[in-house]
Amino acid sequence: MGRIAYVNGRFVRHAEAAVHIEDRGYQLADGVYEVWAVFDGDLADREGHFARLERSLGELRIAMPMSRRALEVVLGETLRRNHVRDGLIYLQISRGVAPRDHAFPTRPVRPAMVVTAKSVDLAAGETRAQAGVKVITTPETRWSRCDIKTVGLLPNVLAKQAAREAGAVEAWFVDELGLVTEGASSNAWIVDAQGVLRTRDTQANILRGVTRNAILALARELELKVDERPFSLAEAKAAREAFITGAGSLVLPVVQIDDAVIGEGRPGPVAKRLRRLYIEEARRSAA
Ligand code: PDD
Repeated sequence: MGRIAYVNGRFVRHAEAAVHIEDRGYQLADGVYEVWAVFDGDLADREGHFARLERSLGELRIAMPMSRRALEVVLGETLRRNHVRDGLIYLQISRGVAPRDHAFPTRPVRPAMVVTAKSVDLAAGETRAQAGVKVITTPETRWSRCDIKTVGLLPNVLAKQAAREAGAVEAWFVDELGLVTEGASSNAWIVDAQGVLRTRDTQANILRGVTRNAILALARELELKVDERPFSLAEAKAAREAFITGAGSLVLPVVQIDDAVIGEGRPGPVAKRLRRLYIEEARRSAA
């Protein structure tokens, strides 16, 4: 059976799904998105992603296209029609369709909404996590509102492509002070040389990762030493462990940053444990 997408009120065949050429998301990146990991047919960190979606829309003054309840029905139905048990669901909401003009449309337009879902091969993800991955670094070039999850992702696209060309899975942005901000599509973490789990604070210009929050809560429950404090690239390269978090990567151990091998060159115990517990918890709450 082919894939099905939700586009502005209809479920349509994925191959034929389309938006208007004057959709402001398409022309101006005037829209936001969310991605949920899906375990056993249920949304992981459901609430956190909804809360961030509402915040992103609010910051851009785009209305929710439907009630939260209706949105949950659409997401659930998209999963069902695509037979997704374990995978990812993508939601995009743009300001809508209007004649091209940078300022908001003068006449009210309805926000445009698209949902797609796909299955993910968890076994392949596990193999990758067991080996650990490489990240590269790149100068931070993004705008100052990375807390809003907009579809304006060009610096992230270029960073990710550079990573791919270097045989890496992620690129970490490094600011002018030499501090790591976050990854192109994930948050960045280390277990520093003193054994403290560190990730950048959310006062900084980063996305407030929902997985990041879940991992912080988990780490505190486990009574790990945690500090939401920026770390430099030099500290990262000298760290005992490094990893990334996100709806796509979950918790993914990093074993190399640029040319520096991290720790023993194998996934560290903290990252492995957090990954296992995060996935177990997501499955438990789906049950
Ligand atoms: N990206 N930072 C950036 C820049 C991101 O794009 C993402 C997620 C994260 C992690 O956030 P969360 O834990 O809420 O997924 C951090 C998604 C998965 C994407 O763009 O596909």
